[in-house]
Amino acid sequence: MPRASALPSPASTAALVRRRSPVRPRLALVLGSGFGGVAGAVTAASRFAFRDLPGFPVGRVPGHAGELILGEWQGIPVAVLAGRAHHYEGFDFAEIGHPVRVLAALGVETLLLTNAAGGIHPRLLPGTFMAIADHINFMGTNPLRGPVPPGRERFVDLSAVYDAGLRSALKGAAKDCGVPLREGVYLAVPGPSFETPAEIRAFRTLGADAVGMSTVPEAIVARQCGLRVAGLSCITNAAAGLGDGTVSHAEVLEMARTVSDRATALVGGFVRRHGGLAWPGMASRCSVPQ
Ligand code: HPA
Repeated sequence: MPRASALPSPASTAALVRRRSPVRPRLALVLGSGFGGVAGAVTAASRFAFRDLPGFPVGRVPGHAGELILGEWQGIPVAVLAGRAHHYEGFDFAEIGHPVRVLAALGVETLLLTNAAGGIHPRLLPGTFMAIADHINFMGTNPLRGPVPPGRERFVDLSAVYDAGLRSALKGAAKDCGVPLREGVYLAVPGPSFETPAEIRAFRTLGADAVGMSTVPEAIVARQCGLRVAGLSCITNAAAGLGDGTVSHAEVLEMARTVSDRATALVGGFVRRHGGLAWPGMASRCSVPQ
């Protein structure tokens, strides 16, 4: 695995993308499990396999195709990272953060991070969605460890990682679409094993509402790059010890498939509202598969 210093400069990868695509997105979406349908909703102008983008980590989890899509959705230029690499696959945090640095170098200003998560809060039942209000980094490391990239800060403020205005846009989109959305704290573990019931009880005590294995590294890097960040979890299962039986990846994928249309509608509503934030006056209606 390359160390941060061995990664190509984000600006050089961004320049390669710019040479091959006319799309100039200010908004980017990272698609986790449950949100893969978004990739099909975007009118793609250019597609880049992660393996063709220098420094991009190529993940191997089923359901995480690695592709950067540049195109248009809801009349708004967007960049979509369809599929992401996880720490548990062996990638270090610097590698996981690289695509976010490339997006920033491309001119992206707003990043929506999506994921699948286990529900800890009693009201976060499987099939519901949570706007991430804050996170707890339980992954045991930090993506900003190591050399400080030129022009970036070493000690990044994380007092408000998830932008309040974007959270309102998510809530508005949920209303538009009739999709219930709660707000809560996402706790990130390294994985890949699921948690024990005792760990989940401990996480509840710590203030976590949902648990997952991603998002936090990207969110921290995004804040270092000065991006506005939103986070959205699809609750695919009850966290360990809270449901009827065991927790499995098959169950996560199954629920992700079940709610895929609603996830796509919710993100579409967010994109439209984001357009409305950027250019007031844009409509914010949405018709949703319930
Ligand atoms: N734990 C950790 N990660 C997850 C879970 C979970 O229960 N569900 C989906 N991703």
